[in-house]
Amino acid sequence: MKVIVKKDYENMSKEAANIIKKEIEKKPDIVLGLATGSTPIGMYEELIRLHKEEGLDFSKVTTFNLDEYVGIDKDHPNSYHYFMKDVFFDHINIDMDNTFIPDGKAEDPESYCKEYDKLIDEKGGVDVQILGIGENGHIAFNEPAEKLNVGTSIVKLTQSTIEANSRFFDSMDEVPKTAITMGIGSIMKAKKIILLANGKKKAKAIKELIKGDKITTYLPASMLLLHSDVTIIVDEEAYNG
Ligand code: GLP
Repeated sequence: MKVIVKKDYENMSKEAANIIKKEIEKKPDIVLGLATGSTPIGMYEELIRLHKEEGLDFSKVTTFNLDEYVGIDKDHPNSYHYFMKDVFFDHINIDMDNTFIPDGKAEDPESYCKEYDKLIDEKGGVDVQILGIGENGHIAFNEPAEKLNVGTSIVKLTQSTIEANSRFFDSMDEVPKTAITMGIGSIMKAKKIILLANGKKKAKAIKELIKGDKITTYLPASMLLLHSDVTIIVDEEAYNG
């Protein structure tokens, strides 16, 4: 596990965008695994700049998003579908037919989850997976628990995640309590993983993860210690607390 510590959020974001830029230049039809949340916004902004000012080409890129709330419409301003278009896809030359985000309103969620993992495999698997991390160490929506899901699944969100995500909603009641998320196994299949974290709130989870001596389902991100190509990019606050 490689750890890169950057001075601040901006530098963390640029470092991540530059790694992705190099990977796209190496393989123009790359499959990217994408994350939502506040953390990757700066990275998306830098990728948009690289597209507009330096011609970074997304026309052959395929993307798979990690997760989506259950029961929320795609055009709801708090859906991850809306977020991805608003923050990233609308500003680059990606073919929207090559972008995939779990459907929070799938009619048959169980078979839909299986299909999502199958589709990732059919597209050749994720080359580079971007991850954020929850304050409680969750990745995507794989929450700390006795057992973790291997494949894409429907999951209940923990109170701490509901509270953390309530900042985007008008009231706590509106925050969805369930989500559809790629499982730990789906994430671990990615050839390369980049985890981003910034700010003091992430310091505890990052400290435990970087210690690197134990894996536990109660710190879902610790599963990444079993992967052979993980880079963690953090700012000084997330690193030092
Ligand atoms: C959310 C998302 C995760 C994200 C994490 C951190 O609940 N499902 O994919 O990494 O929590 O979010 P943020 O980047 O806003 O701190």
